[in-house]
Amino acid sequence: MDSQKPKPKYPFRRSQAWFGKQDRDGFMHRSWIKNQGYPHDEFDGRPVIGICNTWSELTPCNGHFRQLAEFVKRGVYEAGGFPLEFPVMSLGETQLRPTAMLFRNLASMDVEESIRGNPIDGVVLLMGCDKTTPSLMMGAASCDLPTIGLSGGPMLNGKFRGKDIGSGTGVWQMSEMVRAGEMTMDEFTAAESCMHRSSGTCMTMGTASTMASMVEALGMSLPENAAIPAADTRRNRLAQLTGRRIVEMVNEDLRMSKILTRQAFENAIRTNAAIGGSTNAVIHLLAIAGRIGVKLTLDDFDRLGAEVPCLLNLQPSGKYLMEDFYYAGGLPAVLRDITPLLHTEALTVNGHTIGENIADAPNYNREVIQSPESPFMPAAGIAVLRGNLAPDGAVIKPSAASAHLLKHRGRAVVFENAEDFHARIDDEELDVDEHCVLVLKNCGPKGYPGMAEVGNMPLPPKVLRKGITDMVRISDARMSGTAYGTVVLHTSPEAAAGGPLALVRNGDMIELDVAARRLHVEVSDEEFARRRAEWVAPEVPKRGWYKLYVEHVQQAHLGADLDFLVGGSGAGVPRESH
Ligand code: FES
Ligand code: MG
Repeated sequence: MDSQKPKPKYPFRRSQAWFGKQDRDGFMHRSWIKNQGYPHDEFDGRPVIGICNTWSELTPCNGHFRQLAEFVKRGVYEAGGFPLEFPVMSLGETQLRPTAMLFRNLASMDVEESIRGNPIDGVVLLMGCDKTTPSLMMGAASCDLPTIGLSGGPMLNGKFRGKDIGSGTGVWQMSEMVRAGEMTMDEFTAAESCMHRSSGTCMTMGTASTMASMVEALGMSLPENAAIPAADTRRNRLAQLTGRRIVEMVNEDLRMSKILTRQAFENAIRTNAAIGGSTNAVIHLLAIAGRIGVKLTLDDFDRLGAEVPCLLNLQPSGKYLMEDFYYAGGLPAVLRDITPLLHTEALTVNGHTIGENIADAPNYNREVIQSPESPFMPAAGIAVLRGNLAPDGAVIKPSAASAHLLKHRGRAVVFENAEDFHARIDDEELDVDEHCVLVLKNCGPKGYPGMAEVGNMPLPPKVLRKGITDMVRISDARMSGTAYGTVVLHTSPEAAAGGPLALVRNGDMIELDVAARRLHVEVSDEEFARRRAEWVAPEVPKRGWYKLYVEHVQQAHLGADLDFLVGGSGAGVPRESH
């Protein structure tokens, strides 16, 4: 009689399709794992939690992730789960050539297939350095299991000769000082060991901190995930709580698609404006939304974010660093301030709505996190520009730009690619002054390939010597989230795809009008057609990932995912391995 059968201890879970089999295959799935010392009852149907780890010594920002994973495991065990850690391709922003972004989609494929192919019921994503966050979120979204994000946290403030210096931002500033003759090479080198002195990610509001904030604003992590420094033991505590929570999420079947709704993305876009976040968030959020099936467009960033004030006085736009941000209250304090702009009913991974999570969030420092009534900057979100130079859009971060250049008309000084730029920019004979517009081609998704962070072109030394620190710059590249300036980025379609940018020539007059959202080059349609007839498309790489990438990458305004990766395949793999 069925009613006399003992009730199973656990409901049937995905992992039991491997570990629960009482046959030859079940022997294989369990026995080999037991070589690591696990007792038989670990396989009894308790939630199996995959810890997706991007630890690598070549991704120094994630160099502490093996320890962080141990705290996650504690939490998983405490809650009655079975944690199994696995590595995925890790992308280190400061080392990978030609650019870590070339491999974001490749890493996302690794993540997706590693999750789907293994006996896992829920996933913890360990994310830190810039591209490790979107690649893990994208891959996991295409599987849609219960998933929780845990960021590695920022480094402690850089300290150089009694002053705070910020990751990236300080490098851009000091290297311009060296080029202008205001700093010696010895001083510059001395700053190297002072800027990065603890584990963690860049401690400016660069792309890593931006994306950690996006994870929290999307509801994909526990509150406070964005800002707790890596070296602060409260980061370990968060890791342990994250481990506990993912087990509950498996029991609740709280999948990624229940968190990553259109509302969640709208919250993230508004948050990105309020924190003065990186332009890279545009591309990554579009790509993540594409994987989970949420319709998001480039124009959503302008429509939802442009009028949002920036509250954070953090580098690169402001003065302070992530450590200060955490002590001031962290992201919950910002979210509380912008509550009227948020969909407060959006669900988060802790089972509460974002509104519930932030209702009582304290602010301990109004100099660092300023108020909506008296913001650090008004209307600071990313602006989307269009015109005959960017029919599918281009972006600019007004909060990082110079007010006097937001409306500007200037003569184009054109560089065909990054090497051409480096070869000629320091040439005293270069016909350029501060009123010109620097134009860089062939640095987009297909062109570089991988859409490198070269859009914030260094200025010509003869302009710098006049004490001028900003010029209008336009490219199909990205720029580091730690960079600043009046820099138009992500011009779409890119030059290598035959976009109008490819046809711009020295001396063309370019008009930028951010308030009117306009990017125009004064070239007639007939002249454009004549130039187009002369344009030769660049060669496609002959083999390997480069070839696959260039043949399939979408343009920046769509998120630069591969066309065949958009969407998801769920978590099912019915076929056995033997
Ligand atoms: Fe890794 Fe900035 S280089 S976070
Ligand atoms: Mg970067």
